[in-house]
Amino acid sequence: MPESQNAQIMDTATKPDPVRGVDASPEYAEGYARTHIIPQTFEYRLGYIWLLVIDSLLKDYVLLDVGCGTAGYHRLARNCKRIVGLDYSKTMIERGRVLLSELGLKSTEMICGTFEGYLPTEQFDAVNLVGSIGRYTPWPGNEAALEKVRIILRPGGMASFAFVRPRTVFQFLKAILFPRRTVVIRETRFKRMIQRAKLELVLSIDIPGSMNTYVFCRSN
Ligand SMILES: C[S@@+](CC[C@H](N)C(=O)[O-])C[C@H]1O[C@@H](n2cnc3c(N)ncnc32)[C@H](O)[C@@H]1O
Repeated sequence: MPESQNAQIMDTATKPDPVRGVDASPEYAEGYARTHIIPQTFEYRLGYIWLLVIDSLLKDYVLLDVGCGTAGYHRLARNCKRIVGLDYSKTMIERGRVLLSELGLKSTEMICGTFEGYLPTEQFDAVNLVGSIGRYTPWPGNEAALEKVRIILRPGGMASFAFVRPRTVFQFLKAILFPRRTVVIRETRFKRMIQRAKLELVLSIDIPGSMNTYVFCRSN
């Protein structure tokens, strides 16, 4: 299917929304799955820079990927031992399981559920929250998620996050006046949240044209 047609379907398809309890439509999950049945171009890889950073810094690691969707990008991870993909959407998980077998990816296990309700029985070498918290819900009010990341990371483990900086005066004011009603957050505020959760900031990356600022932290 041509990319433009895929974009049209994605515009009208139902997105998953854990806050309102809405699951993704099959068309939406299919649209996501298709984005991973393409060659690994420079732009594709750049879109998953958080995974490439973790994969280049860690070896034989176990990653918890929160909001993994259909998880096809796990094919970029060359050095992982195992990935646990967690997603609220049953439809995304079901399509993801089929996609993983289509792509021959054996190291990902997919679990359906929210990060907030997830009770792991192990500690992880890496935890990713890019694309879920800070995108679906604002960072302010989600301090518990950062705390949880620190608890489930093994000492020395890495976490990846993303936040959206204000780009206009209106967004800047909205972030100050209504911090829980916008995903836009000032860098100083986000970094204070990281500090309070006792995570150590090691790297941050801005990519021109991307809404996200990627942040990598370690637990001590
Ligand atoms: C924008 S999609 C990204 C999917 C995938 N990471 C990718 O890049 O292809 C975000 C996914 O995060 C999931 N999600 C959002 N908030 C979540 C939460 N609190 N717990 C678990 N999953 C969540 C949604 O169901 C959705 O499938």
